[in-house]
Amino acid sequence: MSSGRGDPASPFDRPTSARAYGWMLGGQDVYPVDQNILLYVLGRFPECVDIARQNRLFLYRAIRYLVREAGITQFLDMGCGLPTDNNVHQVAQRFNPDAHVVYVDIDPIVLAHGRALLAGHGPTTTVVTADMRIPEMVLADPDVGALIDFTEPVAVLFLSVGHHLKDVDEVGLGARHAVRHIIDTVAVPGSHLAFSQVVSDDPELGAVFAASIDGAGIPWQNRSPAEVDAFFDGLDPIAPGLVNLADWHPDPSQPPLEPVPEQLRRFVGATEHHSIVYEYGGILRKP
Ligand SMILES: C[S@@+](CC[C@H](N)C(=O)[O-])C[C@H]1O[C@@H](n2cnc3c(N)ncnc32)[C@H](O)[C@@H]1O
Repeated sequence: MSSGRGDPASPFDRPTSARAYGWMLGGQDVYPVDQNILLYVLGRFPECVDIARQNRLFLYRAIRYLVREAGITQFLDMGCGLPTDNNVHQVAQRFNPDAHVVYVDIDPIVLAHGRALLAGHGPTTTVVTADMRIPEMVLADPDVGALIDFTEPVAVLFLSVGHHLKDVDEVGLGARHAVRHIIDTVAVPGSHLAFSQVVSDDPELGAVFAASIDGAGIPWQNRSPAEVDAFFDGLDPIAPGLVNLADWHPDPSQPPLEPVPEQLRRFVGATEHHSIVYEYGGILRKP
């Protein structure tokens, strides 16, 4: 496991995506600075707890598809988040014990918790602290090269992270480069890309939503579904294509998530009445 940044501390003077999202999944690694911004956003967009959890349920179905149907044995999970139940390596290795997984996240708290989760786990899974906005640096990390064989198909995952990638950013070459560089340059045909991000069909309210999170220090770009679709020219969408994740092969019998924390329970089910923002995505194959 490596950190290209010398294990800097997770910031505690501003909210982070890993901790705020992790709280909606039932995690305990959350601070008042994360809870305050999330509760503020939920006041206007109460659907966020449901859509975060729909994303995480999609993650299970996507990994299961990639291992069982697509035969993928290696995963590069960009913006992996804090560990919870049914993490990518646990799902992948349930269906193929030899699957390799490299977790990548910018927040060092993910590395710390990943180390604890993976202690004694063996040589198939690791965690790297890196910035997915610079995919060249991810590829240059020795831990990535040690676990991923780019002469074989790979799945590159960008799950609930597309909104953190701005079309123009100050450290990389922008969202399209971040999403496409690895699949276009080093991944062989038969490789897959799984993607999701929060979108809105309403540009004005989507902009209000994005500004409330971006303004709190979590980089955020609202997109419409059509703007997301535009990332993926030349790749073959797996049926049903890119959709609201609630509609991507729903499976009521899949393993449940951890319970919703008590403070967030009143928001559960809000998508029945509020759907200004939703998680949109799917899986694509490199022909
Ligand atoms: C909403 S969570 C998604 C976690 C997980 N992929 C999932 O779908 O359950 C977003 C994650 O992306 C990470 N992240 C945000 N910007 C990043 C960047 N530039 N490079 C790497 N990770 C980043 C955050 O730290 C956070 O853990």
